[in-house]
Amino acid sequence: MSLQGKKIVLAVTGSIAAYKTPHFVRLLIKAGADVKVLVTDAAAHFVSPLALATVSKHPVLANVNDGSTWNNHVELGLWADAMIIAPCSANTLGKLANGLCDNLVCAVYLSARCPVFIAPAMDEDMWLHPSTRANIVKVRSISNHIIPVAHGELASGLIGEGRMAEPEDMVAHLSAFFSDENKPLKGIKALVTAGPTYERLDPVRFIGNFSSGKMGIAIAEALADRGAQVTLVLGPSHEHTYHAQVKTIAVESAREMYEACTAVFADAKIAVLAAAVADYKPAVQATDKIKKKDSELTIALTKTDDILASLGKIKQPWQTLVGFALETNNELEHAQEKLKRKNADMIAMNSLKDEGAGFAVDTNKITLLTRDGKNVALPLQSKKDAAASIVDHILELRHAEKIA
Ligand code: CTP
Repeated sequence: MSLQGKKIVLAVTGSIAAYKTPHFVRLLIKAGADVKVLVTDAAAHFVSPLALATVSKHPVLANVNDGSTWNNHVELGLWADAMIIAPCSANTLGKLANGLCDNLVCAVYLSARCPVFIAPAMDEDMWLHPSTRANIVKVRSISNHIIPVAHGELASGLIGEGRMAEPEDMVAHLSAFFSDENKPLKGIKALVTAGPTYERLDPVRFIGNFSSGKMGIAIAEALADRGAQVTLVLGPSHEHTYHAQVKTIAVESAREMYEACTAVFADAKIAVLAAAVADYKPAVQATDKIKKKDSELTIALTKTDDILASLGKIKQPWQTLVGFALETNNELEHAQEKLKRKNADMIAMNSLKDEGAGFAVDTNKITLLTRDGKNVALPLQSKKDAAASIVDHILELRHAEKIA
């Protein structure tokens, strides 16, 4: 792990996890970083500024001015290659999300032009509160990096989510960010679709499916972890991603997904279509609510655009197109046929017959089929691990076909 020569501003805020920050500073320095520390008033109750000054070998700053000395927050924000707010209390998170500026930490945050990492720390109830969730979504949407909280014993004595990530993990997170290793997709644009589509029947009803979007989101994150600049076209889903290198375009219908995808595909080198797109939509979308009658109701359906097949038609040799196939019978045969018919380079097939595969669950069992007729059966694993394997196989395929 190396942070050689990196200038890091560490902002410590009021949480019991602050007691771990002198150790964190030592690890950062060991990894080669130069660290300047800021504390809020509340942080100074949990950790000694003198300890932080001693390990960082820089004065610890707490206020925008110290009597007659003004601490230049703009200069600090420009000096840093990265700012990390760890631990970030619920209170500071709320301030960051809303642009409040009543202390030096907030002033440096607002002046910083470098990437900002936020390592939240709070009790589980606070972490799960809708206000905190909304603040996380907000700070993430303005391109801050969230270092995920850990699960374990909390200050309240409860066991749950909300612990600050361990200092070793935070150093690993920062090192991975600055490292070009394991980033073979750096500078490459990728398109991923995820989730269901909703096809409106009338103002209050739609035809949809049970796709959660989890698999596609995991793939978007796995591509981004390897350096890709990812656009995620996401159908109606309760899931979302905090990854700083994933830009989400929210869509509702197959038509909207098709339009977003065709626009993004033009300069995407990799496209993975994991969405469960509706194959049919109501032929007519009623403007008023369809009223109940005594007789049966028949709904006429028309076909939607097949996004994978459309992209397969315009695909260039430098583009890798991957589709999914969720099958219930003759799985390999159906998936192979889809690969050819839609001109994809790879199909990730999962069978509803396999326990642990399919919608809503957190695991998947996938078989990857390629144009050379080969197939690779991946084990039952978490969707995150399955996504990483799929991305590894995409890289192998591009390598084998000598596509940069
Ligand atoms: N797909 C798509 N647009 C559609 C339907 C499907 O892009 N209108 C994509 C899916 O995202 C997936 C692949 O095509 O990557 C296969 O989807 P699937 O529903 O399994 O295939 P279909 O062609 O719809 O065939 P069937 O439903 O008959 O199995």
